[in-house]
Amino acid sequence: MANSSSPSGGKRRFLLAATSVVGGIGAVAVAVPFVRSMTPSARARAAGAPVEVDISKVEPGMMITVEWRGQPVWIVHRTAEMLANIPKMNDRVADPESSQPLQPAYVNKENRAIKPDYLVLVGICSHLGCSPTEKLKIGADSGLGDDWLGGFYCPCHGSKFDVAGRVLKGMPAPVNLKVPPYTFLSDSRILIGQDKS
Ligand code: FES
Repeated sequence: MANSSSPSGGKRRFLLAATSVVGGIGAVAVAVPFVRSMTPSARARAAGAPVEVDISKVEPGMMITVEWRGQPVWIVHRTAEMLANIPKMNDRVADPESSQPLQPAYVNKENRAIKPDYLVLVGICSHLGCSPTEKLKIGADSGLGDDWLGGFYCPCHGSKFDVAGRVLKGMPAPVNLKVPPYTFLSDSRILIGQDKS
């Protein structure tokens, strides 16, 4: 556990989070026939529905990926070290104060989260739509150089993003990664795709 919770540790564990469509489709075994029985408009509504995610088992340093509207959404439980590294990146990222409207107004403009510990991001590159890979390890172990402070790397054309999803200066990607609308239902449950209101 200690290794996986350290951003510079050797192992990083990933979980595919169990998600459920709000409104209660229920277990997977019954979800398919239920969805098939829907009208086209009901299916469209279900496909765009918010997704509820249990984050109780996402330990510090871990990242999970869930699906919302056919897109990967990452949830990263950031460590104190990750959070401390965000302001250190301010002079290396293109839009440190998130001036572009790529996140809801209620997230912090620097760490880009409602609760700093939990980063929620749409995992699609803002350049041409590839899915970046996590590079949460710090330093040379990341493969991105000694001065890498953790974040995400897009293998398609080499764009780099910090651990708040802010694009570094001079990258092919023009803007930061997108933060979806979300809200905390409790300390351990996030609803992705819907604001608190
Ligand atoms: S699609 Fe990510 S850098 Fe081009």
